[in-house]
Amino acid sequence: MLNIDSKIQIIFNEFKKISIHISELLKDSSNEYLKSSNSSGDTQLAVDVLADTYIEKQLLALECVAGICSEEKADIISKNGILDSKDLLKKSPLGGERKLYIAYDPLDGSSLMDSNLALGSIFGIYENSFSAQNLIAASYIIYGPRTEIIFATQNALFYQKQTSNQEYISLTPPKLGKKGKINAPGGTQKYWSKTHKNFIDSLFTDGYRLRYSGGMVPDLHQILIKGGGLFSYPATEDAPSGKLRRLFEVFPMSFIYEQAGGEAIDGRERILNLECDSLHQSTPCFLGSKQEINALKQAYKENK
Ligand code: AHG
Ligand code: MN
Ligand code: MN
Repeated sequence: MLNIDSKIQIIFNEFKKISIHISELLKDSSNEYLKSSNSSGDTQLAVDVLADTYIEKQLLALECVAGICSEEKADIISKNGILDSKDLLKKSPLGGERKLYIAYDPLDGSSLMDSNLALGSIFGIYENSFSAQNLIAASYIIYGPRTEIIFATQNALFYQKQTSNQEYISLTPPKLGKKGKINAPGGTQKYWSKTHKNFIDSLFTDGYRLRYSGGMVPDLHQILIKGGGLFSYPATEDAPSGKLRRLFEVFPMSFIYEQAGGEAIDGRERILNLECDSLHQSTPCFLGSKQEINALKQAYKENK
């Protein structure tokens, strides 16, 4: 019987295989939209579905994976069919049988396909149930000029890049400084609250530089690699719970940011203390260096 660390290692190795397949897939893909939309109401690109189907097949083929759910799917799927999502969203203690479930965004930022900007894939590995407290490892792949992977466990961060012969070599894991220089503000400004707008303006007044592509993975990766800053996707008039989804995007990226020395909050609370009532539930989110997150918390507290 394999221990949990060996199972996580097997899954991480599978993410590397997935990254090789998807980076090749992206080279040959068109920007063709399908007539279908996913559970969040986003129109799907053909490549969203291709990436999703491939990842499902690869992950469910692993003996150590009990089930998966994806931004592009309505349900949690196991090797034997659909699982009860109400049951698996309930908090359950760590330990016991230690079943592993994976939630993923197969292609993050796919609306940037046509403009040929960097895209990503995001994965959260949950033990026993899909609750933030049960997230025990996370990873993202960035498909840019190079394909790179970040893996985080509860004790360590790993950073690797793909070579031209499709192997992976290790790089020094990035670390967030206490304070950075980048401001990546998401959402439609017209619909921001006064509090949010004033806060974002105050960062620019303080000398922060705007860096925003519209892809969560590349935007967060840039902040991480450049040593710090703030990424925000707030509650807005048109999206009161933000846009980014808890299980597939916000929880795993928050886990990685905390492991890199940063913080992630929803405006008040630590993201990884939040509950999740439904698979596709979104949340406002703010990820960054400690100083920016503290300043944001203060600004939001003072101006409710
Ligand atoms: P996805 O392509 O998986 O639907 O995610 C896109 C997300 C995220 O990458 C990005 O930060 C955000 O959507 C941008 O949203 P807006 O275009 O609404 O600003
Ligand atoms: Mn996404
Ligand atoms: Mn996606």
